[in-house]
Amino acid sequence: MSLFDLPRVPEAEVMDDSGEVEAYSWSAGQAYLDRIDDTFVDHSARLLNGRERGRALDIGTGPGQIVIKLARRLTRWKFMGVDRSPNMIAQACANLESAGPAVAGRVEFRVADGNHLPFPDASFDLVISNSVLHHFAEPKKLLSEIARLAGHNGAILLRDLRRPGRFAHPFHVRWHGRHYSGTMRKLYRDSVRAAYTVPELRLMLASSPLSGVRVFAHRSTHIGLERQLEGLSKKLSC
Ligand SMILES: C[S@@+](CC[C@H](N)C(=O)[O-])C[C@H]1O[C@@H](n2cnc3c(N)ncnc32)[C@H](O)[C@@H]1O
Repeated sequence: MSLFDLPRVPEAEVMDDSGEVEAYSWSAGQAYLDRIDDTFVDHSARLLNGRERGRALDIGTGPGQIVIKLARRLTRWKFMGVDRSPNMIAQACANLESAGPAVAGRVEFRVADGNHLPFPDASFDLVISNSVLHHFAEPKKLLSEIARLAGHNGAILLRDLRRPGRFAHPFHVRWHGRHYSGTMRKLYRDSVRAAYTVPELRLMLASSPLSGVRVFAHRSTHIGLERQLEGLSKKLSC
């Protein structure tokens, strides 16, 4: 580690405290969070090569707003959102109830641990996870579960915050955290310190079972892993 690197400070894995759930769902920075979520939804949709139907899984779904937005966009897809926090899943279910008939019957939320998920291998065409990697005590386990559940052909989008360098850090947190206040501001600050850098993510990817996956950076704030859905039309032999 050089003088320019900011040491990582891990965060607690699960967000089940009702204050955290509330802050996350009704934060003063909701409009800003909404715009960031929209970039994630756009990115997910771009990975699907126009596939009209499929099954998607969101690991660490929190209050489920990304799944609900995606379900509105992909009207023939089915969605499963999982989180280890019962309070987050209760909030996701409440959000689903008020989301209206357009998504009814196509979205399910369930309490489950992203380290060991109760689904068969290759059971999803799209596996997503937003702002979750830095919470995992053993991030390799999350990558292994994503690899197992997306199989060889499923699309993958894992995105998380990016930890800046030591000298950029105070400005980064002040500028990008300016939309938040109270608990949400603290959550944001802690999450930035717990997040990974691009080189750390590359190392993690190299020692994971994931294949065909690329590391990307989104502005100066986010990094992640992505893989396109394998097209159905591709010939496997002739
Ligand atoms: C920062 S929130 C992100 C929520 C949501 N993905 C979003 O973008 O709004 C992180 C979520 O990951 C969940 N989480 C942490 N560890 C988990 C695990 N092992 N399995 C499932 N969910 C987990 C937390 O409970 C929390 O709801």
